[in-house]
Amino acid sequence: MMTSSPKFRSLQVSAMLSLALVLLLATARAGAAQEQSSFTFSEDIAPILFENCAGCHQSSGIGPMPLLSYDDVRPYAAHIKRKVQSREMPPWHLDPTIGIQAYKNDISLTDSEIGRIASWVDAGAPEGDPALLPMLPMLADGSEFHLEALLGPPDFVVEAPPYTIAANAQDQWWTQTTPFEGLIDSPRYVRATELKGSYPMGVKVLHHGHVTLAFENEEGRRQSRPIGRQGIGKGGDLFPDDTGMLIGPTGSLNWNLHYFPIDEEVPNESALAAVWLYPEGYVPEYETVGEQRFTADRGGDMPWAGDIVIPPHSIKVQQGVHVLNRPALIQSFRPHMHMRGREQSLEAIYPNGRREMLARVDKYNHFWQITYEFEEDVAPILPKGTVLMITTTWDNTADNPVNPDPRQWVVFGQRGVDEMSHVWLGMTYLSDEQYERLTLDRNRVASARDDR
Ligand code: HEC
Repeated sequence: MMTSSPKFRSLQVSAMLSLALVLLLATARAGAAQEQSSFTFSEDIAPILFENCAGCHQSSGIGPMPLLSYDDVRPYAAHIKRKVQSREMPPWHLDPTIGIQAYKNDISLTDSEIGRIASWVDAGAPEGDPALLPMLPMLADGSEFHLEALLGPPDFVVEAPPYTIAANAQDQWWTQTTPFEGLIDSPRYVRATELKGSYPMGVKVLHHGHVTLAFENEEGRRQSRPIGRQGIGKGGDLFPDDTGMLIGPTGSLNWNLHYFPIDEEVPNESALAAVWLYPEGYVPEYETVGEQRFTADRGGDMPWAGDIVIPPHSIKVQQGVHVLNRPALIQSFRPHMHMRGREQSLEAIYPNGRREMLARVDKYNHFWQITYEFEEDVAPILPKGTVLMITTTWDNTADNPVNPDPRQWVVFGQRGVDEMSHVWLGMTYLSDEQYERLTLDRNRVASARDDR
């Protein structure tokens, strides 16, 4: 048995006293925090969730649970705090500390909104007065194209041949070629495009897809233009002001649709692509070629698995470069990797050697295929000779929460468990004269800003 000297005993007593004091202080402080955070669901939290989460977290949305009422939200409070603090929700995976930060479609929460949610959850997620609840917003159910709200009905819609997606299977691909004719009479400039699965089930199973229109231009050269690219979390493609994509009136549509089975058979799914045109005869100032693929891997022209080899339990980095042989404006950035993908960045190395990080995602998640659309006053304008450098980081360790099996060697391939490494960039190639004018305008705005 341990004997204790009087001195030791008094130490013990004082230790106990100070422990009691600490506990007392802690309780007092917790009480104060509870008083301090007077945030309630009805008044402070519902407005944030209705605006930023409800669109997906509703019965016909892609979110796994509705977040439309206090009863919906309460059981998830702690989970919601974690997901918004880690900036996984709303899905917006850009690194907020580097690169361009102004995006047209930014859906991230502000620090103050995240702070409000966190202190509300810490204070026990009180409901407050239900009479103060804001109205639920109008929620789109996926039956319409996203861009319809902004642009009205599309000028035409093309439909993929039907395909039945099995209930339980690996990823599935549907590639088909269909004729394109009779929808427009002459070459036309496209203002916006959008691809989606059919409503209600197709929207849940289409993970991503592409429809490209192959046609001959007026000089008889074969062209290929995307008239719909879809990915979960990506809306339509609305080109910047006075920017259009030229398409011809006859050709063929190449459908490449990638489905993720959802435990329920989806019979005869037909994806739809909508196209909005500029008025007949209108020639926009800038001609875009839409979203184009820039690879870091060489998947297209290498033997499969030729250059992606990721050992088990490892982190691997790969870089690829492309030299611009014409000046260009980049209107959007969409990273693409698979389940081991963690980070991807786009840098520019200018002809004078200056190197600039344009955009970087540091929380990539294969489930999402988000297009980051640069605000028009910051969209990169790059001179001829710029080197675009794409850096991919894969995480094949157990720390990657979506890694199906860190013991596997991973190589290039189409399936989600194989890997890829490319970015989709919304490209508008510029004439020298357009490049000069745009850079002058940009510099003028910047120096006016600096003078203020
Ligand atoms: C663009 C659609 C979309 C938006 C906007 C969105 N979510 Fe989600 N959310 C999803 C999807 C899909 C999942 C499941 C896949 C995933 O976790 O990435 C999910 C998952 C979650 C989860 C994890 C659920 C679970 O059981 O693991 C939480 C919590 C969550 N969302 C909260 C929010 C909150 C809070 C907001 C708004 C601040 C929000 N989400 C905005 C689509 C969305």
